[in-house]
Amino acid sequence: MEDTKIVLSEKELPQKWYNIQADLPEPLAPPINPKTKQPIGPQDLAPIFPMELIKQEVSQERWIEIPDELLDIYKLWRPSPLHRAKRLEKYLKTPARIYFKNESVSPAGSHKPNTAIAQAYYNKKEGVKRLATETGAGQWGSALSLACNFFDLECTVYMVKVSYDQKPYRKFLMQTYGAKVFASPTNLTNSGRAVLKNDPNSPGSLGIAISEAVEDAATHDDTKYSLGSVLNHVILHQTIVGLETQKQLKIADEKPDILIGCVGGGSNFGGFTFPFIPEKIKGKDIKIIAVEPTSCPTLTKGPFRYDHGDVAKFTPLMMMYTLGHSFIPPAIHAGGLRYHGAAPLVSLLLNKKIIEAVAYPQNPVFEAAVTFARTEGILPAPETAHAIKCAIDEAIKCREKKEEKCIVMNFSGHGHFDLSAYDKYISGQLEDYELPEEKIKEALSELPEI
Ligand SMILES: Cc1ncc(COP(=O)(O)O)c(C=O)c1O
Repeated sequence: MEDTKIVLSEKELPQKWYNIQADLPEPLAPPINPKTKQPIGPQDLAPIFPMELIKQEVSQERWIEIPDELLDIYKLWRPSPLHRAKRLEKYLKTPARIYFKNESVSPAGSHKPNTAIAQAYYNKKEGVKRLATETGAGQWGSALSLACNFFDLECTVYMVKVSYDQKPYRKFLMQTYGAKVFASPTNLTNSGRAVLKNDPNSPGSLGIAISEAVEDAATHDDTKYSLGSVLNHVILHQTIVGLETQKQLKIADEKPDILIGCVGGGSNFGGFTFPFIPEKIKGKDIKIIAVEPTSCPTLTKGPFRYDHGDVAKFTPLMMMYTLGHSFIPPAIHAGGLRYHGAAPLVSLLLNKKIIEAVAYPQNPVFEAAVTFARTEGILPAPETAHAIKCAIDEAIKCREKKEEKCIVMNFSGHGHFDLSAYDKYISGQLEDYELPEEKIKEALSELPEI
């Protein structure tokens, strides 16, 4: 009988992160300065990021050493287990073998601390006193609050107002770790005040909250900015997830046929799948699927273009799949998937057809989440449930075609703070949103010409 959980010892924790920039089919298009429209250099980023992270952002080295201080903190919850979802397989009557990498075991409940801890560490080393960031539903804010607390840094979190009001428990967790949390848009920044002037009741968005946090960092000498997704260095830190998974699959004597992850900005998907990409580029038959909501269909309906990362156009222009920086997605419950853009690295791989993307509405996603909770016992985050829905669909295809495939998905986080969304689903009040083409066209009309 095969094991249900494949657990590595702390000695087997990967000692290096994997940098996919060394193995891309072509180099990334350079980020562009939004004012000069010229490619940016490290000095352009220095006001908001520490130099070590800027170096990682542009590094072409295949492997980057993980400092011992970080490994010691990773050991609080890493290596995370790889589970075989035998009960789900049995329920689906599928001949497929389904595995999930369980990132919900971190103290904050998701993969986000893998990079939060690293970012806090490098900022502390360079003398930074405070980090400013944005958060949607609060997973990223909780992770950075935890990390700042470990490295004795102050932490300011701009939390999208609608979540701040509707989901107070993540806010309490952030405050418990010692962070200051504000409902964005605030009156504390020029970008926040500009939004409130037009719309005093603005529900906020990730694009607005990013503008506020970047402005905070750029206008305070002792403060830097921290981003929980999208950027190359963030995905680099997350590759510890895929590297562990590779070791665990080897122990299980498995080779993956299908890898699945949900995509908000692309960090859990990238961290989980990138270590497998060199094999795929060399010709190995692995299907790699990115899953997103139909209400924010960046990868499945957006164009591959240069765009800003935020509403106030402070961030560099990046070449990515985008729905337009002014796009405000409908208030679905997978708050972490409500972002207009996708990581340039994930975008390039999609454009080169090395990975593929699918989109699902939230009701079938919650149906999959409930099936998972009832079979495997763990309550998924609504974001994670997108990957589960796709894994279930693939397992059903295997049943129909009588194929014994090995399906591996990233279980990016638990949903213990998302129970009001489950309540809405169970009581039949959850709405599905299919974004009308006109809405997409409208937001895309504001894309800059580069
Ligand atoms: C549990 C969980 N999964 C996935 C995501 C999506 O982010 P990313 O695409 O950066 O992994 C988030 C973002 O908040 C999240 O909280």
